Amino acid sequence: MSLTPKQLDACVLVWLDEAREQILNAMQIPLQVSEKTNARDLVTNVDRSIEQFYVQKIQHLMPNAHIISEEGYGDHVESMDGDVWFIDPIDGTLNFVEQRAEFATMLALYHDGEPVCAWIMDVIQNEVIHGGPTLGVFENEQRLSKFENRGLAAGLIVVSGARLLSNQMCLPEIAQTALGFRVYGSAGISYMHVLQGRAIGYISKMKPWDYAPGVALAKTLGLSTSNIDGNALNMLISNSVVVSTPSAHEEIMRIEKQTNGV
Ligand code: IPD
Ligand code: CA
Ligand code: CA
Ligand code: CA
Repeated sequence: MSLTPKQLDACVLVWLDEAREQILNAMQIPLQVSEKTNARDLVTNVDRSIEQFYVQKIQHLMPNAHIISEEGYGDHVESMDGDVWFIDPIDGTLNFVEQRAEFATMLALYHDGEPVCAWIMDVIQNEVIHGGPTLGVFENEQRLSKFENRGLAAGLIVVSGARLLSNQMCLPEIAQTALGFRVYGSAGISYMHVLQGRAIGYISKMKPWDYAPGVALAKTLGLSTSNIDGNALNMLISNSVVVSTPSAHEEIMRIEKQTNGV
């Protein structure tokens, strides 16, 4: 890769501004909404066009990179070797359609399985959390400070509403132990709360494009990241992902072991 992480970050921030402009313009006219697997699993013309926009930019900038993306314009990727991009053009499509707010657009670049840079933009608030191991993590131009290592009883845990209702990943026990729990309907927005120190963790089962950016940024800040069973994430498949302060992570792993009797 010929660009430095700093040059790459600057370049993608320009893409994000352009994508934001396109999203806001598209919101002025009726969205074309269709169902994927069910009425809660939607895709719009904007999800598709923004993904195509990023794919074209990446292919022009890094023709040898592989792309893992949600709406089908990327590649079939079977290995994390080399440069691998993750794209979630609109994260929180249901919020995008219903609320016109609380959705994100996000990307991440990994090299040989390690994070290089990642970006999560709250489109309506015009806030982007970005950076990586060599740059640090920034919210717009401001460096994010180190989080407080609070345990479950001292902070808010963000969870997937659907997984909580269906009693997956010990979410009822974890939510009851925490000071409180929150459900935002967008992985990107959820990760932003954790990265900003407003929540102590986020737990959900998700696809690679949902968690790759948040995990890259969280790792850079020193937050703990793993599968719910405590193992490292396989970035090519769905994972039950835990991102939290180290203290909360220890407690979550303990609750999981006690509940599942391992
Ligand atoms: C979804 C959102 C949601 C999470 C789902 C994701 P999408 O992403 O992030 O909060 O619970 O697992 O699939 O489909 O709106 O990009
Ligand atoms: Ca989707
Ligand atoms: Ca998503
Ligand atoms: Ca999406």
